[in-house]
Parts: sequence; C-alpha cells; structure tokens
Amino acid sequence: MKVKNICCIGAGYVGGPTMAVIAEKCPHIKVTVVDINESRIAAWNGENFDELPVFEPGLGDIVKKTRGRNLFFSTNVDQAINEAEMIFISVNTPTKTYGKGKGMAADLKYIELCARQIARVSKTDKIVVEKSTLPVRTASAIKSILDNTGNNVQFEILSNPEFLAEGTAVEDLLFPDRVLIGGDNSTDSGQKAIQALVEIYSNWVAKERILTTNVWSSELSKLTANAFLAQRVSSINAMSEICEKTGADVSEVAKAIGMDSRIGSKFLKASVGFGGSCFQKDILNLVYIAKSYGLDQVADYWEQVVIMNDHQKQRFSDNIVSTLYNTVSGKKITFLGWAFKKDTNDTRESAAINVADNLLSERANVSVYDPKVSSKQIYADLDYLGTRSNEENKDLLSVYKDPYEACKDSHGIAILTEWDEFKNYDWKNIYKQMNKPAFVFDGRGILDKDELGSIGFIYYKIGSGD
Ligand code: NAD
Ligand code: UGA
Repeated sequence: MKVKNICCIGAGYVGGPTMAVIAEKCPHIKVTVVDINESRIAAWNGENFDELPVFEPGLGDIVKKTRGRNLFFSTNVDQAINEAEMIFISVNTPTKTYGKGKGMAADLKYIELCARQIARVSKTDKIVVEKSTLPVRTASAIKSILDNTGNNVQFEILSNPEFLAEGTAVEDLLFPDRVLIGGDNSTDSGQKAIQALVEIYSNWVAKERILTTNVWSSELSKLTANAFLAQRVSSINAMSEICEKTGADVSEVAKAIGMDSRIGSKFLKASVGFGGSCFQKDILNLVYIAKSYGLDQVADYWEQVVIMNDHQKQRFSDNIVSTLYNTVSGKKITFLGWAFKKDTNDTRESAAINVADNLLSERANVSVYDPKVSSKQIYADLDYLGTRSNEENKDLLSVYKDPYEACKDSHGIAILTEWDEFKNYDWKNIYKQMNKPAFVFDGRGILDKDELGSIGFIYYKIGSGD
C-alpha cells in the first residue's frame, strides 16, 4: 500500500518537527498537521521561520523548505482525516489531575476524542498510528472505539513511539538510533500497515534501524526507555549528594564509571533535577500500571526515581537559603535559565519552577533571565502551581531581557539551565555589580570553579565536595 496523504493530529513539540522531517524526506507525500489550537496553527503558518511555536535548532530551515510544498498546517481536522490514508495521533497525554489515577495515570481523554473523530469522519480505510506516548494496551481501546463507532471502514492500529529529545529534535529525527513500529503481524492487513510505515521511514532510515514488534512491546518500550533514562539521572543525582558530603566530584565519578562500556557515558550529568514534559509523567504512568496489576514492589522501585528528583530540586533551594545565612527574605536571587534544558523554549516540569517556588515562599526576590523563554510563560508556570496569588508572584519575581541587569545587585546567582552563553559572560563585571559576598549556585556544573573563585565568587557546584 502506497501512502500519499498523511494527517497528523497535534501540532506540538512532537507533531510539528516529526511531520516536517517526514515532509522533507518524502516529497511525494502530502503531510497535513492539524490542531484545534488556532493560535498554534497560525504560528506554524507565520511569516517568521525563527518564531515557530516550537524552537528547535534546524527546524526553521526545514519548515521553510517544505511548507506549502507538501507540508501544511491547518485547523480543519475533519478534512485532513478524510484525505489521509495514514493518521498519526500526536496529542498530549498529560498526567490525570482528577478522578481515579489522579496524579499518576495518563489522561487519555484527548486520545479518545481523536479516535472518536477519526471514526466519525473516515469514509475510507485508515492506518491509525499512535505517536503519542501511551500506557501499554491503549491500542485495544482505540481499536474498540474505531470499530464500534466508525462507518464500517477498516482501521489498522500501529504504535510508533517517538524518541526525539527536545533541543536536538531535528538531529534525532534525521538520524534516529532506531525507529520502533508495533503492529499486528498475525493478519494480512496488519502486515501491510506495518510495511506501509516501514516504507515511509525507509526514505531516510537504514532498514536495520527500523524495528518491528507487537503493539504491546512497542507501547511498553517507550515508557521503559524514558524510565531508564530518568533513572540514570536520578542515580547520578543521588551520587551528587554523597559527593558533596565526602569531597568527591560527581563529574569525575561520572567520567570514571562512564568509561566502563557496560555503563556508558551518556545521561550521567548531575543536575538540579530532570524536567521536561515526559520523564515524570511517563514514570508515574508506569508506576500506575504496575500498581494496577498488583505489582507493588515494581511500582515502588520506579517511583523512587521521581522521589529522588523531587529531593534534588528541594535540596538545591534549601542550600541557597542556608548558604545565604538562613534568610533570603527581600534578597535578590538571580536565575540564569528557566527552560528544562538548553536549546529549547519548553519549560514544562522545569526544575527552575519548583526551585523558584521554594525561594518565593521564603520571600526572596527572584529575577529571571532565559534566552528563549518569555515572561508570560514564566509567570504562567508559577501561577499554575497555585502556591500564592498571581499578584504576589508578579510582585516577588521579575523577568529580565538582559542577563547583566538580572544579576545586578543580586546576592546569589543560580544556574538552572545549561545554556552555552552563560559560560561566556563577563563574570568579572557581573561580580562587581553584585552584593557581597557574591554567591553562584551552579545547578548544572557548567562554570569554571577556579576562574569564578579567583574573581571572588563563593562558588557552589552541584555534586562537588570542595
Ligand atoms: P504538545 O502539548 O506540545 O502538543 C499536543 C497538541 O495536540 C496541542 O497543540 C493540542 O492542542 C493538540 N490537541 C489535543 N487534542 C487535540 C484534538 N482532539 N484535536 C486536535 N489537536 C489536539 O505535546 P507534545 O510535547 O508534542 O507531546 C505529544 C505526545 O508525544 C505526548 O504523548 C508525549 O508524551 C509524547 N512525546 C513527547 C516528546 C517531547 O519531547 N515533547 C517526545 C516524545 C514523545
Ligand atoms: C526525553 C528523552 O531523552 C527522549 O528520548 C524522549 O523522546 C522524550 O524525553 C520524551 O518522551 O518526551 P527530553 O525530555 O526532551 O527527552 O530531554 P532529555 O535530554 O532527555 O532531558 C530531560 C531532562 O533530564 C532535562 O531536564 C535534562 O537537563 C536532564 N538531564 C539529562 C540531566 O539532568 N542529566 C543528564 O545527564 C541528561
């Protein structure tokens, strides 16, 4: 089966970049990305390719090349579904905030709405591809909705989880370690559907990197991959606390263990805590699944990864308070970075949000500079926590466009995101303008301890015991 029209429901961090790359690599396929969020679609269709709704290095160039050629962004969901032979579902699957499984299970309401809409609209057979990260066995729920509410057309469900990381999305999509496709190999139509998706990826991914499995393995592999990655970060962060007590340096420990080929060197960077929209959400989802099968030990094991991460954020802010003589009330504390990692404008679950919230509860005056995050987003992140009124957040926290202004008259600077530009600042100048003693709390371990020390800073680096 040759696919000529693809529809992707959800024009977010995954849908946008993924479809842009498919459109670039498959000029013979028309790719339409649809969303109910009109302003998001308008932004994808905007004049300025540097201001797309998702900031990702290299993405603007690809959208510039493909948009209007075979890549389209639209709010007309029905039409795009109708035209497509293959429909990707790439909508958000956040943690439930209500009812059974609140705070743990994935909220599948957006997925279900998509399934119902696809069923209602489709007049021809469709391959429906789960691109969103989903609890294992969700495909059976989607299939049941499609088969029971559809117009007697055939639906094949595939699972094709996405492994891109933000900040490197384009690179990850162009050169994936693997592409995973789960499908029903036991039927002729299932095999054809799998083959149709394999063919699309084969336009730029080597065959041996395209892995096909059954649907449940594919769904579960995605949760497992995120759980393992997050577990490494929590493991090294746990060691960072021991390092601080014992005089060891976590970056030296990470290097020493990472050279063991069985362990490997990636994902061993100690930090103020992992953030991002998925690690916590996906682990909690895994914990919920384990609990729902009565596997309490398995659930507790994975939950500890999130507990450790919360602890890391809390102890970072506690350390700022205790170092600044046990009171930060009325003191200006500067945050360099708000995004959950460098090279993205995404702030979802960023450690900066909790650290700021803790300091604001101590009545600190937090000032923030981030090269890519807007002040609107920063206030929205804080207000969402509901710890204090929006007015109080506005009073206590200020957002700056200039990092030097953000640091002026500050008592302490906290590095929350590892943006490269922070390394090249004129730290001597920053020091001159600060209250003394001037502290730096490096939650990402990116600055040079000796250099900052020689300028006069009192420098604290996460995971360093000296
Ligand atoms: P996102 O919130 O950025 O985008 C989701 C989009 O779906 C939103 O724009 C929303 O308006 C739209 N949407 C929701 N319901 C809709 C409907 N019924 N019809 C049309 N549009 C609808 O989310 P995201 O970060 O792109 O994540 C999407 C999925 O991919 C999630 O399951 C996530 O776990 C997974 N994932 C995310 C990443 C990542 O780096 N962000 C990586 C891998 C996997
Ligand atoms: C992560 C996974 O890496 C992707 O494979 C996956 O597709 C994605 O989640 C998802 O499902 O959403 P992402 O969250 O975009 O990608 O970014 P990561 O590079 O994994 O970083 C996550 C968090 O861990 C960041 O806050 C980062 O700063 C932190 N981190 C990462 C560390 O603290 N130390 C490390 O060594 C690595």
